[in-house]
Amino acid sequence: MTSTKLELVSLSKSYGKKNVINKLSLEVKAGEFFVVLGPSGEGKSTLLKMMAGIEAPDSGRVMIDGQDVTDLPPNKRNIAMVFQSYALYPNMTVRGNIEFPLKMRHISKNEINRKVIEAAKLLKIDEVVDKPVTKISGGQKQRVALARAIVRNPSLFLLDEPLSNLDARTRFSARGELKRIQRELGQTFVFVTHDQKEAASLADTVGVLHQGSFEQIASFQEIYDSPKTRWIGDFVGDFPMNFIPADGHSEMGFRPEWASLVENGTKGATSATVESIERVGDVYYLFCRLQNGLAVTLKGADGREIGSTISFSIDRYNTYDKPASKDATLVS
Ligand SMILES: Nc1ncnc2c1ncn2[C@@H]1O[C@H](COP(=O)(O)OP(=O)(O)O)[C@@H](O)[C@H]1O
Ligand SMILES: [Mg+2]
Repeated sequence: MTSTKLELVSLSKSYGKKNVINKLSLEVKAGEFFVVLGPSGEGKSTLLKMMAGIEAPDSGRVMIDGQDVTDLPPNKRNIAMVFQSYALYPNMTVRGNIEFPLKMRHISKNEINRKVIEAAKLLKIDEVVDKPVTKISGGQKQRVALARAIVRNPSLFLLDEPLSNLDARTRFSARGELKRIQRELGQTFVFVTHDQKEAASLADTVGVLHQGSFEQIASFQEIYDSPKTRWIGDFVGDFPMNFIPADGHSEMGFRPEWASLVENGTKGATSATVESIERVGDVYYLFCRLQNGLAVTLKGADGREIGSTISFSIDRYNTYDKPASKDATLVS
């Protein structure tokens, strides 16, 4: 199975006066699971549509396997796009939906049948192939949409928040399945989401999209541990990274779990007032306020009283420049 390399070279796109994508460059390796992570409205769908050829960039190039496809229409790019809305044909069976793109290609009936069953098995929907799509679950519908993409044997899969219509539990299992499918296919996937849990569980590499280009491209773990900017520290993580002044010129950035609660009065510890508490499983997150008014989130093994004073020491931190600025960047 051959897989495909995708390159974007200084891509820009505006809608009216709004500059959505700004000189964005990217290289996705062949066989890589690349996740574009960013809040809603940052231009994720616009970017994916330019990869697909549904939207034309104002400037810049889209390259697939070294070939410039910027001016090629979607059907000449050998890509498959799966959207949030599955866009299945409601009056057809599962099989009817999956084989639809093949029927357009005039492939033999036997060959079509073989491909449909192969894709349905891969996606574990082979038991429902003859059911109407109106009679299957949301998770199964999402798989039908993916199966319909797979049978076309595309070299590049572009997925735009395909799991966001599923309930939390189905989404959890769908993530695992999607990762398995990508591994088995060995194909290049570009997957767009605002959900960092999806990025964490699916991606080989994550690109954090902010203000029209990638602010950081790295593994999820690296982005979590060493967010390149204060903005990313704030956006990535169940709770925002804490920032407190180190000296006049820099700030310490630390995750809740990088600090420990210590006895009040401990030398060198910082004290804070507990304002609210959230229990997650068997740990407690304490939302605290420092004397200077800054908010910090800490993690504790037991609950504390709201309004009580606690003390903590910081075990590990990153250093950021430009205190209190959204543009602050990682120094060390
Ligand atoms: N066809 C369009 N015409 C005008 N503005 C658009 C169009 N498509 C997207 N936009 C705007 O571009 C920005 C990015 O949109 P989009 O790519 O859908 O973001 P995301 O997928 O990250 O939520 C938004 O401000 C959106 O309103
Ligand atoms: Mg979108």
